[in-house]
Amino acid sequence: MQGMAQAIRAGVHAGGAVPVIDLANKADDPTEASAPTEPLTDVRVVCMGPDEPFAFEGPCRSIGFVYPCHFGTMPQRVREFASALDLSGQTGAYRYAVVTYGGGVKNPALAELNSLLAKKGCPLDYSNAVKAFSTYVILYKMSEKVTEKTARFKYGLEFIVDDVCARRKTPTVRTGAFDSLYTRLAMKNCGRDEDRHFVVSESCDGCSVCAAVCPVDNIRIEGGRPAWLHRCEQCLGCLHLCPRVAIDFGAKTKGRGRYKHPEVTVHMLIAYNNNHPETLGHRY
Ligand SMILES: Cc1cc2nc3c(=O)[nH]c(=O)nc-3n(C[C@H](O)[C@H](O)[C@H](O)COP(=O)(O)O)c2cc1C
Ligand code: SF4
Ligand code: SF4
Repeated sequence: MQGMAQAIRAGVHAGGAVPVIDLANKADDPTEASAPTEPLTDVRVVCMGPDEPFAFEGPCRSIGFVYPCHFGTMPQRVREFASALDLSGQTGAYRYAVVTYGGGVKNPALAELNSLLAKKGCPLDYSNAVKAFSTYVILYKMSEKVTEKTARFKYGLEFIVDDVCARRKTPTVRTGAFDSLYTRLAMKNCGRDEDRHFVVSESCDGCSVCAAVCPVDNIRIEGGRPAWLHRCEQCLGCLHLCPRVAIDFGAKTKGRGRYKHPEVTVHMLIAYNNNHPETLGHRY
């Protein structure tokens, strides 16, 4: 694995929703002659969900963190994953982060990772936020323009891929006073036992898709129905992907719509959650 590029992917994904670029950070414009454009090949994708600590097998050419913005900042699991990461030996890697967000506060999601990695002597070289749409149906209905937004994302993401392939650099955004206040207030709702509000209707047929797509193994099927184990990241993957639309968050999510990215299958999410994307016949 010497020299392999690594992309570290968040184990938190509501419905496999894929995001829309915002180009919040403008990359430096490197001279074409010096930009070492290198396609993203030989990539290993690692899910941040499992408890087992991840260890690099050798120095990497690049290391990327891709995760959604939750409550203005990083999901707790991503924070834990990055905190536990041993980056000694990775100082020569190009380090980047890409955050997906719904359209609200997102800067702390990048700033916090950057300061965490900086303490390990490996600050981010590049970071950017990609605007998606909120899958947080606890607060909002799914956007009626979600198909259009998904298409815009696909187009916009190409700019980020281009930046990363060219090893472009950005200054990582700072967290403003409003961002900090928002995050502090919003995180009051991020307890891992918030899953106590999930309810299951009679439509449930015990198929166990909800348990399989949970990136942090927070669901057991007991007596043919899901039971939540209070280590929830609130990604809402279980709720969005239940084939019977049997899961709700109390009464709040009723009639608010569900989302699954058209090109992301449940089978793919399960393979990534279990760190076996090779079973899909491609590496990432
Ligand atoms: C628990 C939760 C909290 C969220 N908080 C924010 C937020 O503070 N700001 C924002 O712009 N989007 C927020 N969102 C929207 C997500 O960032 C968006 O749904 C996500 O990037 C879509 O990707 P995913 O389907 O892979 O999760 C939140 C979503 C969830 C589920
Ligand atoms: S995915 Fe839906 S139908 Fe399947 S076990 Fe879970 S709640 Fe029941
Ligand atoms: S229980 Fe549901 S909302 Fe919580 S982390 Fe698992 S899939 Fe996400």
